[in-house]
Amino acid sequence: MSELNNIALKVIGNGKGILAADESTGTMTKRLDSVNVESSSKNRLIFRETLFSSESMKNCIGGVILYDETIKQSSSSGKKIPELISDSNAVPGIKVDTGAKVLANSREEKITEGLDGLRERLKEYYKLGARFTKWRAVYIISKNYPSKLSIISNAHALARYAALVQESGMVPIIEPEVLMDGNHTAEDCYKKTSEVIKKCFEELIIHKVDLKGTILKPNMILPGANSKEKIPSEEIAKLTVKCLKDSVPSEVPGIAFLSGGQTETEATENLNSINNNNQTNFIMTYSFGRALQQSALKFWSKNIKDIKGTQTTFNHRANMCSLAAQGKWSQNIETQDN
Ligand code: 13P
Repeated sequence: MSELNNIALKVIGNGKGILAADESTGTMTKRLDSVNVESSSKNRLIFRETLFSSESMKNCIGGVILYDETIKQSSSSGKKIPELISDSNAVPGIKVDTGAKVLANSREEKITEGLDGLRERLKEYYKLGARFTKWRAVYIISKNYPSKLSIISNAHALARYAALVQESGMVPIIEPEVLMDGNHTAEDCYKKTSEVIKKCFEELIIHKVDLKGTILKPNMILPGANSKEKIPSEEIAKLTVKCLKDSVPSEVPGIAFLSGGQTETEATENLNSINNNNQTNFIMTYSFGRALQQSALKFWSKNIKDIKGTQTTFNHRANMCSLAAQGKWSQNIETQDN
């Protein structure tokens, strides 16, 4: 088995998933503003360090995606952040795109940037301890979107990124996120997501990316956030599994979903149903940002000195996600464990 495949399995195997703590400073500031905590470099570090030194890191978190600021910071005990993460047997990862910018000639859409100088930055991140990376492309759904231009250009950038990452000995997370915004149906989401993912793999194959050494991070198949359509979790799961079964080559070891604006319990319940309906050989797990951190952030914001309490809140969420990644979660366990 290749080294890259081993890393991928370490990150997403054994009922573990990914903690996406790679919010850019701008996004993290929005999150902290929402709970009335000042977004200083120190506060961002305290919150993140609190999560990274939680008990559930050992059994529930196989990898943590960091932002450039955090991977270079040291914890209060003087330990480098990547080392703190490795101490729990989790793998440090790093977001390497430089954000989604307006796409010329399709101005409502975005293209993710960050390829210039990427080879050099990857060398630096590898030295700092990163063994996997993330690049996020975003797509909107409406009558005419996502456009061919956005689908083709983002897939091309994702493939160039992935090839460079593997060249530097790390596993690329391929994240094509079809956004929940809008009033589209789940069927629309299914069609557009299938088209987006198929194009990504077409490009990854052209760029000779070793698919066994990648992780796909897609959205689940959901109705738009403003849609009147409400469908049961099992239906979401069936659509999501069918979409991935038909669009993802079998060499890919696993799929780690983003939460994308679902509540913590929605994301957990849907992941659990996905695993109960998983008719593929893919590992199906989580790479959640908000759906792993929301309650912990809220708790912490009330008293940023209550590290233990914040960790207890985070541990509960991480345990629930890990159960869902094994299809063992239930509403009863959710309430009892809390
Ligand atoms: P959410 O789970 O909050 O969508 O974040 C995941 C992520 O990493 C988005 O790029």
